[in-house]
Amino acid sequence: MAPARTTARTAAATSAPAAAAPPAASLARRVVTHYRRHRRDLPWRRTSDPYAIWVSEIMLQQTRVATVIPYWERWMARFPTVQALAAAPLDDVLAAWAGLGYYSRARNLHAGARWVAAEGGGELPRTAAGLRAVPGVGPYTAGAIASIAWGERAALVDGNVARVLARVHGVEDDVKASPGLRRIWALAGELVAALPATAHPGDLNQGLMELGATVCTPTTPACASCPISGQCTARATGRQDELPRLPARKAASALPELATVALWIERRGAVLLARRPAGGLYGGLWELPQGADASAAASAVGVTLRGRARPVGEHRQVLSHRRLRVALARVSVRGEPRATTGYTAVRWCAPAAARRLGVSSATAALLALGTRARRR
Ligand code: ADE
Repeated sequence: MAPARTTARTAAATSAPAAAAPPAASLARRVVTHYRRHRRDLPWRRTSDPYAIWVSEIMLQQTRVATVIPYWERWMARFPTVQALAAAPLDDVLAAWAGLGYYSRARNLHAGARWVAAEGGGELPRTAAGLRAVPGVGPYTAGAIASIAWGERAALVDGNVARVLARVHGVEDDVKASPGLRRIWALAGELVAALPATAHPGDLNQGLMELGATVCTPTTPACASCPISGQCTARATGRQDELPRLPARKAASALPELATVALWIERRGAVLLARRPAGGLYGGLWELPQGADASAAASAVGVTLRGRARPVGEHRQVLSHRRLRVALARVSVRGEPRATTGYTAVRWCAPAAARRLGVSSATAALLALGTRARRR
């Protein structure tokens, strides 16, 4: 009788058919092999520096790979170590992030680096559990750094991993709500635990993310190119389009609308900008003074309107939780600007240079609108 094949290692080392191997070990092995053959050559994959990997993982949250590459390269040249980042003023950090959006990621990274420099002995912790002590490092980021940089068998789950695992295992629960998410984390944990000792846990985790990004896509997945389609429940039952189950999205028209007025106040070729307080929404970013109407916006920067506001145009944007409608008005004002309610600082800035200070995408759009109107 053939000896029982009980370990992933044995299964990987023989030509036993995939069906004979424990499913987790077989899945993990296939994902790693596929990743090693097909992985994209990305700059942060040429290093095992945990800080560089940390930066890449934070930038990649909510941002596409092609957008991240030049930002990551500039960032690593500007702040090559965790100490360099910790020593930099927040203004420089936000300026380096300008244009990537979701600025709380930059503030958290900066706060995390300061914690590492001041309280963590200058080095990132070497385990996923230890990494969770760093401010701003959640379970995904801890799993990514620990598995990719340190080779720990730490699981991670992002949207791509959740989709792959929900389809493979036919998970019916909403993967964004607790029970479904717990199940997905458990499945990711089983996979990384089943990995042969010779394989790198970072390759498994990146392989799962890569599969989700390039093969097991939300619509029309390329099942013919998938290394685990033979073991996929969704494929076997033709339900790739139904899994994972996601909560119904609110129609944009059902979101509450926030309508404001932004002021274009210009002096000698420079426009007045105001800075939002550090903690809240868009904290630390610069914007054209805003308020419920033109006079409220003016009083937020300590001035009063002189004459009528001239409408320039409007910017509309749908955010995850509300719709934004900002009317841009060109105004003349009386008084020397200073931050009053809702702002911590004011400054004059050439419109073309404002993006480098750290502005939201809405402010960037308003600056473009005002600049176009100036030329008319
Ligand atoms: N998405 C976020 N981080 C990633 C990584 N390291 N590899 C592939 N996709 C990713």
